[in-house]
Amino acid sequence: TVVILDFGGQYNQLIARRVRECAVYCEVLPSRTPLAEVFAKNPIGIIFTGGPNSVYEEESPHIDPAVFERGVPVLGICYGIQLMAHTLGGHVTSPDSREYGKTVTYYDTSCPLFAGLPDKGVSWMSHTDYIDRLPEGFTSAAHTDCCPTAAMQNPEKKLYGLQMHPEVLHTENGVAMLRNFLYRVCGAKGDWTMGDYARSTVASLREKIGDGKVLLGLSGGVDSSVAAALLSRAVGGQLTCIFVDHGLMRKNEGDEVEEAFRGHDLNFVRVDARDRFLDKLAGVTDPERKRKIIGEEFIRVFEAEAKKLGRVDYLAQGTIYPDVIESGAGDAATIKSHHNVGGLPDYVDFKEIIEPLRLLFKDETRALGRELGLPGYLVDRQPFPGPGLAVRIVGEITREKVAVLQDADWIFREEIARAGLEKEVHQYFAVLTDMRSVGVMGDGRTYDYTVALRGVTTTDFMTADWARIPYEVLDLVSRRIVNEVRGINRIVYDITSKPPATIEWL
Ligand code: XMP
Repeated sequence: TVVILDFGGQYNQLIARRVRECAVYCEVLPSRTPLAEVFAKNPIGIIFTGGPNSVYEEESPHIDPAVFERGVPVLGICYGIQLMAHTLGGHVTSPDSREYGKTVTYYDTSCPLFAGLPDKGVSWMSHTDYIDRLPEGFTSAAHTDCCPTAAMQNPEKKLYGLQMHPEVLHTENGVAMLRNFLYRVCGAKGDWTMGDYARSTVASLREKIGDGKVLLGLSGGVDSSVAAALLSRAVGGQLTCIFVDHGLMRKNEGDEVEEAFRGHDLNFVRVDARDRFLDKLAGVTDPERKRKIIGEEFIRVFEAEAKKLGRVDYLAQGTIYPDVIESGAGDAATIKSHHNVGGLPDYVDFKEIIEPLRLLFKDETRALGRELGLPGYLVDRQPFPGPGLAVRIVGEITREKVAVLQDADWIFREEIARAGLEKEVHQYFAVLTDMRSVGVMGDGRTYDYTVALRGVTTTDFMTADWARIPYEVLDLVSRRIVNEVRGINRIVYDITSKPPATIEWL
């Protein structure tokens, strides 16, 4: 185990994620955790994260100096290096100039952290304070133009510090520096795998849940599917998954979800609520009204189904780490009322929420899903909004329009797959606009709907660029949709980025 002591920085889970990337098991603990508890885990190394404070202030989090006396390697990052310096008798000061962002850094490659790496590179800095006097026994191992100690070392005591953030990809070779710490200094073997993660999570879920009953809202998206597979492995038939089919899924999707879970040990309840949703949506054109109706209706259907189960002990959710960050975002303006299947704690009688994926990033969640034997089409699925095709039909939603859009979208997806672009284009789908225009097919005039194709590339879905899908692929999709889907006579491709547009049209 590597223990990561959390001093409140923005990138702390990212450090954990990088350590896992180096195939080393780690746990993040609050910085106040008593040392006895930390050492009870038999750590092969300890990492101090960054944090927003200044070490010389009274109320800033501190650390018991005994942590440095056990012979266990310690790496301090950002606030962590300053805390190490301060605690061991060095001096930290607040200079006139701050360092933020990409900074050219010079490394001493005889330091194990930088062994085998270039002696110069860009690193990501985010600090106001810096170390102006090293503690006894330490030497500086890197510097920048304004910071004399961008890294420090005391190899004898296996104590190291980095002022930059190695966990952020802007730091060139940052992950290699962490790997050097883990492998060269801590002696980690790097043999931890997602299989180990699955096994230990299953064991701790079993212990926690005992013979309790668990309820999970399954949307068919990656996160809830992986949560379902994990819980199923842990507690089998004590798990009930409710899958509300609102009739606004993509073509065949409801059946695919059911199919994927057929072999698993769990109670799978598929609620056919298609009519209910479409009746409620009849005549509604306002995007936010659509979202609200679906969100509310979803809760009602879920609640009615959950009541049939009586009291459950745990409500499980497929919350992953980026959701945890995003929901803390606070005062941002409501652009869209996002609806996430699973966020229903007020409506079901249960005693506790469990979120077994809470610390995983998206790609780790996918890897775990693969490990648990979920099919590729579920695990590698692109994001799909909770309100489904309702936010891809401009204007009134009817059964016919849903069917038309499902067919057009299916063709688009099929051709993207055929062109091998599934990984490159991060989200792609068809939108049924409310616009009709004149066309000519055969010898006749048509007056039909326009389908817009949307494809974006993005890393976080907060910003996105429109995807440069090859013309040949767009051409094929256009011709196929017009030929194969009745009621469509015109195809356009959306070439706006986010911002100013959003990814979905509604
Ligand atoms: P926008 O359209 O806001 O979408 O640029 C950003 C990402 O979020 C997805 N999306 C949703 N996901 N519930 C969800 O779980 C929703 O209500 C919802 N609305 C949009 C969208 O598909 C894109 O990936």
